[in-house]
Amino acid sequence: MTTTPRQSAWHQLQQHHEAISDVRIMDLFEASGDRFERFSLSCGPLFLDYSKHRVNDETVARLLDLARACQLPRRIDDLFSGVHLNNTEDRPALHTALRSRADSLVVDGADLMPEVREVGRRMEQIVDAVRSGQWLGATGEPITDVVNIGIGGSDLGPRLACTALRQVAAGGPRPHFLSSLDDEALATLLDGLDPARTLFVVVSKSFGTRETWLNAAAARSWTCAALGEKPETIAAHFLAVSANVARAEAFGIPADNRLPMWDWVGGRYSLWSAVGLVIALAHGMAAFQEMLAGAEGMDQHFRTEPFSQNMPVMMALLGFWYSEFFGSASQAVLPYDTRLAALPDYLQQLEMESNGKSVDRQGEPLAYPTATVTWGGPGNNGQHAFAQLLHQGTRLIPVDYIVSARADSVHTDQHHELVANCLAQAEALMRGRSVEDMGDDPLAKHRASPGNRPSSTLLLDALTPYSFGALLALYEHKTFVQGVLWDINSFDQWGVEAGKACAVNITDELLAGVGTPAQHDGSTNGLIERYLKLSR
Ligand code: F6P
Repeated sequence: MTTTPRQSAWHQLQQHHEAISDVRIMDLFEASGDRFERFSLSCGPLFLDYSKHRVNDETVARLLDLARACQLPRRIDDLFSGVHLNNTEDRPALHTALRSRADSLVVDGADLMPEVREVGRRMEQIVDAVRSGQWLGATGEPITDVVNIGIGGSDLGPRLACTALRQVAAGGPRPHFLSSLDDEALATLLDGLDPARTLFVVVSKSFGTRETWLNAAAARSWTCAALGEKPETIAAHFLAVSANVARAEAFGIPADNRLPMWDWVGGRYSLWSAVGLVIALAHGMAAFQEMLAGAEGMDQHFRTEPFSQNMPVMMALLGFWYSEFFGSASQAVLPYDTRLAALPDYLQQLEMESNGKSVDRQGEPLAYPTATVTWGGPGNNGQHAFAQLLHQGTRLIPVDYIVSARADSVHTDQHHELVANCLAQAEALMRGRSVEDMGDDPLAKHRASPGNRPSSTLLLDALTPYSFGALLALYEHKTFVQGVLWDINSFDQWGVEAGKACAVNITDELLAGVGTPAQHDGSTNGLIERYLKLSR
């Protein structure tokens, strides 16, 4: 049987892993005084230090061979040119077009850029009208609060951006987010808002997501109860962003209040589109455009830098190295910046919904592991929560530390200490503490840490709309590269359908107040029965 280029490159890597798997990172630093310089990369305001990884020059060379054996150069061209990489839905994946500076991009015979630009202009008109006070509510009041109603990719990106850019141009309406069916969240949010001054943006690519529909209907009832059930009320207080015009219209959103999104933008890749409207409303169109510029800067880096100097490619290859050869089942993303506290949540959808797959692009079962579990949270807090497992647990969990050199706060000494903690965690993971280090301490065996635990450190000049956009695009392209390495379609998400179908059946039973045992298993039937008893 002939060996494919990928198999050949993989075998080279496997042999190399056998040779290097026990090498200590500290020894690699000892052997090479310029390791930090050679195993770090820059892209605009982003600096990636990957020298604390279990790799040497040969590792990098073998990983790059694998990338080329997987035809990564061609796939990158395909991504940006609109080849239907989402093969199961026969669509391109063109989130990059949303931030492109190109005058035109012809895909399947149509130039996409005029409509992208037109939607940008409409966004700007709405943002200017609302932020200037020209857009008034149904009773003549200015808008002071904007609520994004959406879930998944229609929530996570905008929610993260509004926290990350919290201090940026905050003169606009206060942003709020409504996503799950938890009506406690709905009630709590609406209790604190004035319907006369609140604008709702209903964001749903399909406009068929139950959570979003129900929350939007509740918001409409709340608004109309206060301001009157009339078209002017909806026109003054509801906008919609969707690829499904008919459903948005059926909900009652007038055409002038509807902004399109396109089927060639995946939900988890969509905050660069009108899905990002709440970001622009809360922080200004200039900040939103700066975000796009940062992402575009990363796009150019990804398209033009040699793979050995390519930040998304190197991050993807490192993640592959640990998943494939060290058996890592998860990866931690630890921002030392509360403005990025929700970044792991965003990356969970980006990476796990994109690459949490077990069949290849042709639908054939895969014989190797794919996406690891992405988790994390504010790194400083994590030191007092989960860091114990990272240092002394039995699992190898590669970590991405993210920290900014310049903070917006005035507490410079405190920022120094935050950064010191971030750098210290990465150093301690790598260095460990041997029993010998602790002399005759009776607890030496309990206090020792194995060390040799890898991490990357992303050092941002500062967290700005530009660097934030570049950071998200970095992870988008890292995710794409890993999908190429695993030969999977990173742009569909068939796995979410089964749960939705089960929910429809169980919802009907709970609403009817009676279960249908024939439809379920003993556990689900038992829980339905118990719930119905308790909720009466
Ligand atoms: O159920 C998964 C999913 O389709 C995500 O891919 C998507 O971001 C989210 O639900 C919301 O979908 P929509 O924007 O169509 O409401």
